Amino acid sequence: MKIAIVGTGYVGLPSGVGFATLKHNVVCIDKDQEKIRALQSGNVTLYENGMEELFGQVVKKGNLKFTTSFEGVKDADVVILAVGTPPHPKTKEADMRYIYAAAEELAPFLSGYTVIADKSTVPVGTGDEVEKIIRQKNPNADFDVVSLPEFLREGYAIHDFFNPDRIVVGADSKRACDVIKELYKSFEEKTQILFVSRKSAETVKYASNAFLAMKIHYINEMADFCEKSGADIGQVAKGMGLDKRIGNKFLNAGPGYGGSCFPKDTTAMALMAQKYGVKMGLIETTIAGNKARKIKMAERIFDIVKDIKNPKIGVLGLAFKNGTDDVRESPAVEIISAMLEKGADITAFDYQATDNAKKVLLDKIKYAHALEDVFDDADVVAVLTEWEEFKALNIEKLASKMRHKRMVDLRNLFDGQYLRTLGFVYDAIGCVKN
Ligand SMILES: NC(=O)c1ccc[n+]([C@@H]2O[C@H](COP(=O)([O-])OP(=O)(O)OC[C@H]3O[C@@H](n4cnc5c(N)ncnc54)[C@H](O)[C@@H]3O)[C@@H](O)[C@H]2O)c1
Repeated sequence: MKIAIVGTGYVGLPSGVGFATLKHNVVCIDKDQEKIRALQSGNVTLYENGMEELFGQVVKKGNLKFTTSFEGVKDADVVILAVGTPPHPKTKEADMRYIYAAAEELAPFLSGYTVIADKSTVPVGTGDEVEKIIRQKNPNADFDVVSLPEFLREGYAIHDFFNPDRIVVGADSKRACDVIKELYKSFEEKTQILFVSRKSAETVKYASNAFLAMKIHYINEMADFCEKSGADIGQVAKGMGLDKRIGNKFLNAGPGYGGSCFPKDTTAMALMAQKYGVKMGLIETTIAGNKARKIKMAERIFDIVKDIKNPKIGVLGLAFKNGTDDVRESPAVEIISAMLEKGADITAFDYQATDNAKKVLLDKIKYAHALEDVFDDADVVAVLTEWEEFKALNIEKLASKMRHKRMVDLRNLFDGQYLRTLGFVYDAIGCVKN
């Protein structure tokens, strides 16, 4: 099939690479000229595990192309919308300008029957609006708009593309359903493809993300309880997670959720509910609690060095989670920003996200070229991102570079007992500090 993808970011690019790998002919369209130029020259513009190799293969075969021109949608069987829906700067609702602009721009180029499939996370009713815009711009176009919510996880985008838990399709026309069935033909055997109404599909995405955010917030509150009561959140989460009704995912206590989806989607969901006159207290509590948590985490790091004047703080991790270079709403960036307000001296390291962090934190902190630099003369090291690689560090050697052996491990990556034998004051989430 011929597929056009509008928006070549963390969703559009891995999806383009995935569909091209399945031998579809894919053209990725983006208005960002620099991005498209880089992709056309063979440079992958974002980090995703395993993507670079596949990218090289499909580009070489000619199955994946890039353009800034909406002519790319010509003759497409499916046009996938994967543009951003960030929080509106004023209202904090999903900012729909990119979706609507894309709909307007693609409309004149539609030819033959086309399914417009929305993968961006959008408020309920957006499908109706997109349909209206395209019809106004091109009254003769033969098309249907479906909702095709995306559930991939950054860091695992390629894995998740090929192994989705489910594919949800929101379509109100049989003709469109048939096209989407063809698009996902190779998934039929292994994945449930759930056909629902367009509005239901749009809601599934927000309902899922809000639920996962609540689950994280729940385990974080439970961690606070453990710290006071003497229980250990790791053990508690394990005991909970063995219950199949609960499941063991999203039970890692930490500094609070972040990233480009959960914060904006929980807020958008709460505001959308307000519009419909529905009170969503659980989501509202989660949003407020998660926000406050980042500040508490910054205070926690300061607390462990409160006896030191102008402490030197080393930070491990800038990305919002492991496996990505994305720092959007990263807890690490928010915690660092809160510490900067108190005048902290910070040196940070990340395996992938340093360049993106520099765009946000500018020269307010030092960026370590080598991980060891974070430990140089540090009074405390704070672990803010759960990169698996941190677990393999030779802490004994690194500790010898520190001025004071203190660690605040907000991802519970390290073995506290071992660190204490090395003379560390070690503070982790959800267990008693010593
Ligand atoms: N990032 C994730 O993990 C994830 C997961 C599931 C769903 N989503 C949703 O998918 C959507 C895209 O997210 P993302 O993280 O890929 O965003 P992104 O910011 O990484 O990429 C969006 C791209 O769209 C381009 N764009 C914006 N307006 C355009 C237009 N009119 N025409 C052409 N290109 C345009 C931008 O230049 C950018 O390259 C959002 O709605 C998001 O909520 C994201």
